[in-house]
Amino acid sequence: MYLRHLQVGQFRSWELADLALTPGPTVLVGRNGQGKTNLVEAVGYLATLGSHRVSADAPLVRHGATQAVVRAALRKDERELLVEVEINPGRANRVRVNRAPLQRPRELLGLVRTVLFAPEDLALVRGDPAERRRFLDDLLVSRTPRLAGVRSDYDRVLKQRNALLKTAKLARGNALATLEVWDGHLTELGGQLLAARLQLVADLAPYVTDAYAGVAGPGADRAALGYTSSVPLAGDGTPADPDRALPRADELAAALRDRIAERRKEEVDRGITLVGPHRDDLVLHLGPAPAKGYASHGESWSFALAVKLACFALLRAEGDDPILVLDDVFAELDAGRRSALAEVAGSAEQTLITAAVAEDVPVALRGTRVQVADGRATVLPAEADPGAGSVSDDEETGEVHGG
Ligand SMILES: Nc1ncnc2c1ncn2[C@@H]1O[C@H](COP(=O)(O)OP(=O)(O)OP(=O)(O)O)[C@@H](O)[C@H]1O
Ligand SMILES: [Mg+2]
Repeated sequence: MYLRHLQVGQFRSWELADLALTPGPTVLVGRNGQGKTNLVEAVGYLATLGSHRVSADAPLVRHGATQAVVRAALRKDERELLVEVEINPGRANRVRVNRAPLQRPRELLGLVRTVLFAPEDLALVRGDPAERRRFLDDLLVSRTPRLAGVRSDYDRVLKQRNALLKTAKLARGNALATLEVWDGHLTELGGQLLAARLQLVADLAPYVTDAYAGVAGPGADRAALGYTSSVPLAGDGTPADPDRALPRADELAAALRDRIAERRKEEVDRGITLVGPHRDDLVLHLGPAPAKGYASHGESWSFALAVKLACFALLRAEGDDPILVLDDVFAELDAGRRSALAEVAGSAEQTLITAAVAEDVPVALRGTRVQVADGRATVLPAEADPGAGSVSDDEETGEVHGG
């Protein structure tokens, strides 16, 4: 799939940007702070209904405006779809596909598929578990859109259950009876979410191992994924093993129920839900140790990159290419990792790249250039010889430029 057209209004720094796009690589270049990342953030929003930089929507709306709009013409399976998202912080977003409003914004999820790699992805390796859970769930939904409903129902039930737990200590009897109703919802939805995550980790793991070997080169430690859970049955964090049978959703729901019963008193005392997928974590293993707390800066970058390349490979293997978005990453990578990334990016149906300095981007990816400056995004005429077809980059120096 690819975007043929992107328009944003009152989004971040943009009053209006209107951009015709083509398949293949496109590089958005411009000085720092001109709005390059803002444009690809808008593309990411179409895929996840969220931003890779902030967790709330308010910063996405231009100062002084109350609403931002992202509109795109998507080419998918020989068809063209017009996707429009109105971002209304504090109120419900509105989404239309081919001008028909969707009943719920989340029905959009899965239509536009992107894999975005950005400096923020270092948090996948070094950040809190919440970062990795969000990563897993976004990929899950991109792969299996039906799960968007399960995820949001789970979040809603969790909130309500937590609210009830807060009052349970005071109210006693009645509250505990109501709690059991919420336990049922929580464990049923939690079992489905857990089963889907475990399947995803098992499916993604071999791609991560391969991608890391490609990125980090010979002699590097082996990368692997694991899943750690508050429910013993759902995972103890050890590297995923393709021969290990995965528990079913109903088995996981039962295990959740048992665990909740065990921790009931503690939950009531503390007033929060202590068991469930919202407490779990994706574990990134590098050689004998978890990457978090052990991996070097370069290894952490390689791991983050490998995870994103693995997502791309997984989605590609299961359908058409997702749109690859590379935000400001080439300047951070050395020559070897640049070429590993360039190889995948060069083969993707569409790659959107941002860079402050065009020279940071491997020659083979400098197809179409968009100049971003002074509130305008302008497609530049094609370079005489963008070095099409070749992935090797003679100009590579491994130098690191300031972002
Ligand atoms: N809600 C908003 N309203 C207005 N301006 C905003 C808003 N959010 C961010 N900005 C502005 O957008 C600019 C940053 O844009 P962006 O991150 O896209 O820059 P960039 O071109 O990617 O720069 P760099 O090369 O440094 O990564 C900043 O000047 C910031 O003040
Ligand atoms: Mg940027």
